[in-house]
Amino acid sequence: MWSLLSLPFVISAVRAAGIAAEATISTSNGSTVDMVSAAWYAGWHSKDFPVANVSWEKYTHVTYSFAVTTPDIKNLSLDASSPEVLPDFVSAAKKNGVKALVSIGGWTGSLYFSSHVATAENRTQFVKTVVDLATTHELDGVDFDWEYPGNQGIGCNVISPNDTSNFLAFLQELRQDPTGQKLVVTAAAPISPWRDADGNPSADVSGICQSS
Ligand SMILES: *[C@@H]1O[C@H](CO)[C@@H](O)[C@H](O)[C@H]1NC(C)=O
Ligand SMILES: *[C@@H]1O[C@H](CO)[C@@H](O)[C@H](O)[C@H]1NC(C)=O
Ligand SMILES: *[C@@H]1O[C@H](CO)[C@@H](O)[C@H](O)[C@H]1NC(C)=O
Ligand SMILES: *[C@@H]1O[C@H](CO)[C@@H](O)[C@H](O)[C@H]1NC(C)=O
Ligand SMILES: *[C@@H]1O[C@H](CO)[C@@H](O)[C@H](O)[C@H]1NC(C)=O
Repeated sequence: MWSLLSLPFVISAVRAAGIAAEATISTSNGSTVDMVSAAWYAGWHSKDFPVANVSWEKYTHVTYSFAVTTPDIKNLSLDASSPEVLPDFVSAAKKNGVKALVSIGGWTGSLYFSSHVATAENRTQFVKTVVDLATTHELDGVDFDWEYPGNQGIGCNVISPNDTSNFLAFLQELRQDPTGQKLVVTAAAPISPWRDADGNPSADVSGICQSS
């Protein structure tokens, strides 16, 4: 799998209410600003870089990567990312006051996002799948690393012109869920905004921000 760091990614705003006062940094004029300091932890490299070696004090949020989409809408698979390490990761994060997230998707893990959010019925099921993942692993949040809505990534993703609007509808439904509304939700996004139905970079992603 590819390292996210090799791609031109930005982390989108973490749900604003969720980050307030988690960490502050001092600016040169003496005022302070709220800060998010986040990193991905590569589960498949856990033998080379153990959880115990993470510099927790440097981060407010760390995201375990990846739970990949599979043809089964109920199955977000951590099989290739050392699932046995995730419980240690979550407890180490919590012990250090750091939010523990799992990233869903990735370059090789985005094949089925499009079909999982394509219909109202599928969105309802996929919300349940995501909430179950978060509940099972006692996560503080989830990161969506769909590469990319409305724009082919690895070459064999399911793709639809409605991906971005379906993704928004999915996020809104996730926020209606009693557990989903409490999660920190982040997204890895390309610099060029997610494609609209005509294949152009979306001109307005405010709905996505309001749901994250
Ligand atoms: C201090 O600097 C920050 C930018 O770094 C700015 O947003 C803020 O308004 C400044 N505060 C004062 C009191 O000048
Ligand atoms: C992890 O920490 C151990 C103990 O401090 C150290 O011996 C080892 O070199 C570290 N490994 C990495 C990859 O940083
Ligand atoms: C989940 O999907 C992966 C990849 O397709 C597969 O290897 C695994 O057996 C599935 N797990 C379950 C519980 O169905
Ligand atoms: C909805 O999900 C089902 C089950 O995963 C899948 O077979 C179907 O193709 C999906 N619907 C669409 C329109 O992609
Ligand atoms: C996209 O959404 C529009 C409006 O809901 C619908 O008419 C159209 O059939 C959808 N296209 C695909 C490929 O699902």
